[in-house]
Amino acid sequence: MRNTTLGADGPQVGVIGLGAMGMSFAYDMAAPRDEATSVSVIHQALDLGMTLIDTADVYGPYTNEELLGRALAGRRDRAVIATKVGMEAIDPTGGPGGSPLVRPNGRPGHVRAAIDGSLRRLGTDHVDLYQLHRVDPEVPIEETWGAMAEAVTAGKVRHLGLSEVGVEQIRRAQAVHPVTTVQSEFSLWSRDVQAEVLPYCAQQGIGLLPYSPLGRGFLAGRFASFDELPQKDQRRRLPRFQQDNLRANLDIAAKVREVADRIGVTPAQVALAWLVAQGPHVVPIPGTKTPAYLADNAGAADVRLSPADLAELDAIPAPVGARY
Ligand SMILES: NC(=O)c1ccc[n+]([C@@H]2O[C@H](COP(=O)([O-])OP(=O)(O)OC[C@H]3O[C@@H](n4cnc5c(N)ncnc54)[C@H](OP(=O)(O)O)[C@@H]3O)[C@@H](O)[C@H]2O)c1
Repeated sequence: MRNTTLGADGPQVGVIGLGAMGMSFAYDMAAPRDEATSVSVIHQALDLGMTLIDTADVYGPYTNEELLGRALAGRRDRAVIATKVGMEAIDPTGGPGGSPLVRPNGRPGHVRAAIDGSLRRLGTDHVDLYQLHRVDPEVPIEETWGAMAEAVTAGKVRHLGLSEVGVEQIRRAQAVHPVTTVQSEFSLWSRDVQAEVLPYCAQQGIGLLPYSPLGRGFLAGRFASFDELPQKDQRRRLPRFQQDNLRANLDIAAKVREVADRIGVTPAQVALAWLVAQGPHVVPIPGTKTPAYLADNAGAADVRLSPADLAELDAIPAPVGARY
């Protein structure tokens, strides 16, 4: 897979990365975890050049970083590890559907203490990209970001990134320490960032990491009805996946499939190629624990959409239902 540079000062990564969250958290939580397959998917990603691997301390909590640590034993140097801090699980089963209840915590003391746990679980002496998962509305971003910058000075972290922020918050963080990446939900059905964040990142030399780039599977053609969603699955409480909204949104998935069929690729590849076409600073991180999907997603790096394909995809109407 061809590489791109993450932000102006960041590492080289494959133009498509891997999100590890769903291997341990958020989706299909009632099903038994298949660690051996997840580990082999991570190895497959590295072999295919998908070197950026995204996790967070709160995924699990903690088990997703542990899984990644075990998968990267003996392979650490081949991966660019992106983890996150700034969310904490306050009740392991108190969230919707028995999932962990999480909330932002950007207090400097919490942030300072968190990095050593992440390093231990990941089995490494440094994290390549340390991201603020959510800005804590009760803590000025300068304080949280300043505490994260201390981890760079201490050699525990190479670069810093933000997640789910607007341009004003990026500017405030930049005044304290360089911002290498911004992670945002961005896909054919979540395009809010196109208005300001995407052009600002391009202009400032900041990498943009689209999360949930496949619309949590929907854009790849999964889930034609609410009942197809697994039990104990975060999507069951997201507005776009509620039955009436989902039915209305099927036209979006059908449009993606139409373009995919015409050019002889899969809908997931069209959704990812559309993101890659948004600029050299854009590196989507599709999530999967399925070997065939991983190979499919890697193949998207070779899909070239024509100007007419892109225009057709740009014209897809906004979905029914909010993101969260
Ligand atoms: N910063 C944040 O707040 C935030 C929030 C959400 C996610 N993220 C990050 O973004 C990553 C990706 O997002 P996501 O997992 O929410 O959503 P996603 O990548 O849009 O979609 C994941 C879903 O799509 C399925 N899938 C993957 N590739 C497929 C293919 N080629 N064909 C058909 N289905 C396919 C997966 O199935 P299987 O799992 O069954 O293989 C899974 O159900 C996460 O892993 C996480 O690292 C960050």
